[in-house]
Amino acid sequence: MEKKAQLYEGKAKKVFATEDPSLVIVSYKDDATALDGLKKGTIAGKGVINNKMSNYLCRLLEKHGVPTHFVKELNDRETLVKKVSIVPLEVIVRNISAGSFAKRYGVSEGIVFEEPTIEFSYKNDELHDPLINSSHALALSLATKAEIEKIKEYAFRVNDVLKEYFLSIGVKLVDFKLEFGRLADGTVILADEISPDTCRFWDAETNEKLDKDRFRRDMGGVEDAYNEMMKRVFGN
Ligand code: TMP
Repeated sequence: MEKKAQLYEGKAKKVFATEDPSLVIVSYKDDATALDGLKKGTIAGKGVINNKMSNYLCRLLEKHGVPTHFVKELNDRETLVKKVSIVPLEVIVRNISAGSFAKRYGVSEGIVFEEPTIEFSYKNDELHDPLINSSHALALSLATKAEIEKIKEYAFRVNDVLKEYFLSIGVKLVDFKLEFGRLADGTVILADEISPDTCRFWDAETNEKLDKDRFRRDMGGVEDAYNEMMKRVFGN
């Protein structure tokens, strides 16, 4: 499948048209941003890792009944995916307190929840992706009631599958962000990436951070963390 016009460039990926109007090519960059793009940098090799890891996890999720955009890995950085229109909600599932949850509610990081939590942010850079509830999302026509129900169901299933999988490779899945999209016929499927950019991963033994928080928080060892996650998923 040949790359045609570039349709979109985001902070971490580019999207290209193909000769098939229902398919696009996603190209993963090494660029990293945080704090709404205020903090910029590169994480060498990140694009390859995020591409391969996302594709591996999409295949795993498909096996467990979660439809995804994944079609075919084309090369280290590029993947053929189904074209969707993105539902403008960031869907965040948490198993352990961290990040904005800990900050917002004034609790420490590392509290293991009895049940996973779910929250939505309105995907809107100018407004800094504000937290939003389902009724507000409905009021703003960001999604229908049926879509929101489906998205919640899929998000919790993704958590069940990924939590167990990551534990099997010695990693606690602390929290993660998903995005969903609509196919031309309106079907909602999982889109975007699942990677150390969009998940918090802590080593199961030491709680060492193995994700983008090392970049967000200027902790150093960013590339090492991404490489370690790659090694855990794919072996050496
Ligand atoms: P938060 O604790 O900062 O709200 O982040 C929750 C999860 O969402 C965490 O795994 C990182 C991920 N995330 C993104 O993928 N993109 C973002 O823009 C933000 C703020 C968080």
